[in-house]
Amino acid sequence: TVGNSTNILWHKCSVEKSDRQELLQQKGCVIWITGLSGSGKSTLACALCRGLHARGKLTYILDGDNVRHGLNRDLSFKAEDRAENIRRIGEVAKLFADAGVICIASLISPYRKDRDACRALLPEGAFIEVFMDVPLQVCEARDPKGLYKLARAGKIKGFTGIDDPYEPPLKSEIVLQQEVGLCDSAEDLAEIVITYLDEKGYLE
Ligand code: PPS
Repeated sequence: TVGNSTNILWHKCSVEKSDRQELLQQKGCVIWITGLSGSGKSTLACALCRGLHARGKLTYILDGDNVRHGLNRDLSFKAEDRAENIRRIGEVAKLFADAGVICIASLISPYRKDRDACRALLPEGAFIEVFMDVPLQVCEARDPKGLYKLARAGKIKGFTGIDDPYEPPLKSEIVLQQEVGLCDSAEDLAEIVITYLDEKGYLE
């Protein structure tokens, strides 16, 4: 039995992941960017995408906000729906990685258990968690979409960091800290991630 189905078997094709990786000259993986709203996840995802694209590497971004416009449009921000949002994006990211793509997932993903479940879907080392370690105070001061203001005014209920939890990662591969009053450019942060990928052999 698989999930709710019985009598389903795995169908294998003779063109495999290793063949696709050979073709693309890169290794499929998932870069999972987690952090509060306004911590710079999407900006980093774009900078990373640009930097890798310029090096001739195929990437694809799965951004929480964007995926919620389509595949996950049926999901709200209550705990079980966030868990399902994370699970689906984890499964889609796994498919992209299997396609040989460097998949950049950028979503708050506030729960440790759900992030770790996505990690467990990937081969050892292929799930690279990037924690945008930005204090709530900084994210709230930036408030790019004005959502913290609405949350403080009680106009949005269950906003992450205000009246909904964010569980910081305990063992991220990469922690990008942004102190109050100190902000590295997205390009500089992307370079840290690209260097990591290079060192781990994902760009060959
Ligand atoms: S989650 O928790 O991983 O399912 O969230 P995600 O899919 O990344 O979506 C987060 C963006 O949705 C907007 N938004 C909210 N965020 C947090 N809490 C609540 N209640 C909420 N309602 C709407 C917000 O713009 C988030 O965007 P980012 O890019 O993170 O700022």
